[in-house]
Amino acid sequence: MDGNGRWAQSQGFHRVAGHRQGAKTVDTVVTACRERGVQHLTLYAFSSQNWTRPSLEIKALMELLAEYVRRERNKIMNNNIRLTAIGSIDQLPESVRKALLELMDASRNNTGMTLCLALSYGGQEEIIAAVQKLCRECVAGDIRPENIDSELFSKALWSGDMGPVDLMIRTSGELRLSNFLLWSCAYAEFFFSDKMWPEFDENDLNMAFAAYANRDRRYGAVGK
Ligand code: FPP
Repeated sequence: MDGNGRWAQSQGFHRVAGHRQGAKTVDTVVTACRERGVQHLTLYAFSSQNWTRPSLEIKALMELLAEYVRRERNKIMNNNIRLTAIGSIDQLPESVRKALLELMDASRNNTGMTLCLALSYGGQEEIIAAVQKLCRECVAGDIRPENIDSELFSKALWSGDMGPVDLMIRTSGELRLSNFLLWSCAYAEFFFSDKMWPEFDENDLNMAFAAYANRDRRYGAVGK
């Protein structure tokens, strides 16, 4: 969800105003994905590396997240959405963690769509956590190193119940993965939009889905 800061600065606002506007785009995109039958949507809301930002910006982002979870509670429940999170959730301030865990628990049996927030998340950090988990299981004698295959490894990830990414959308004209779902994006299709995240709308989402529908996913095999 890139470009909040640049959008705000281009309007003469503080970067934080861009994140606030970006939270409105989150509403639009979640609703549109639910309506279109998307089964799983992961939003990269705060990376492991974002902790290096100015403390005022971090504080504002954490407040926005807590506010989002409280404000959207009814909408999430009424639309049968299951809220999950990936990342070092224990590093989040208590106010965010509490609100998040409460709604994750309340929505855990919802089946309409899974909305996953990547918070204090990094793809390399996720892979390291999975390696540590599997090493502990090997040391405990629960599994043997030679039994570790891509299926077992995928399940050990924070995003273990999610499966591979079909479509990765990045806004603001940046052409990087930036430590996002490194393992799960192995065969993802990419859609890059020049729009800043606060300006990204339903029409842009439709364009991304239309582009995806025209891709020929060969997974290394020969095409039809
Ligand atoms: C990256 O753009 C965006 C973020 C680090 C924060 C994203 C957060 C939100 C959209 C709002 C809160 C989230 C939810 C789920 C309610 P940037 O700030 O790096 O933009 P820039 O590249 O233009 O500086």
